[in-house]
Amino acid sequence: MKTITTLLTGTALTLFLSMVCSVYAQDVTVSEKSFTCIRDGHKIRNTYIRNADPEKLKEAVRIFKNSVPDKEYPVGTILQLVPFEAMVKHPREKFPKSNGWEFFALEVSEAGTKIRDRGDNVVNLSLGAPCLSCHQPAARFDFVCEKGHGCAPIPFDDQKISELQTADARCAKK
Ligand code: HEC
Repeated sequence: MKTITTLLTGTALTLFLSMVCSVYAQDVTVSEKSFTCIRDGHKIRNTYIRNADPEKLKEAVRIFKNSVPDKEYPVGTILQLVPFEAMVKHPREKFPKSNGWEFFALEVSEAGTKIRDRGDNVVNLSLGAPCLSCHQPAARFDFVCEKGHGCAPIPFDDQKISELQTADARCAKK
């Protein structure tokens, strides 16, 4: 009897540990080096998408392109609309308020990227609003605003967005 209990406890413990490990193992580490020229990403409409894993990138592109509702982006996905802001997907438990998305405010120069602020409480200083407050209404689309997902609009039209992307100081000069 004792052996069975020991065995069961052991199995439960192994299972628990492997679950804990898998949650953490699949998370991504984000540093200043994670951000390079915005145009290194894959562009869909106004947004650049990245994921270091080609299969996950394919999945993220599919979700974004088709605006698939009630679908989570794969961990490690980086979304950027403008060079100085980004959203990075972690496991949901890490940032429960934003379903795992971490918001970034970046300082961009030819020398590279500096992280000004990160987390789920980042504020867009020029708009005076937290990233999450604007992206929240798009929760059904995993907090991706685009157009028509319910977010308050930003004061940049498509042409201005494109100009900002072209002007990214980190991109190699041709
Ligand atoms: C005033 C509301 C508002 C605020 C504040 C805001 N956003 Fe957004 N964001 C939007 C809208 C609207 C779009 C879609 C623009 C488009 O595609 O034309 C967008 C797009 C994005 C995208 C591209 C993916 C998507 O959701 O469409 C990223 C990445 C992003 N924002 C990050 C941030 C970060 C980081 C912050 C804070 C530093 C922030 N945003 C603050 C409204 C906002």
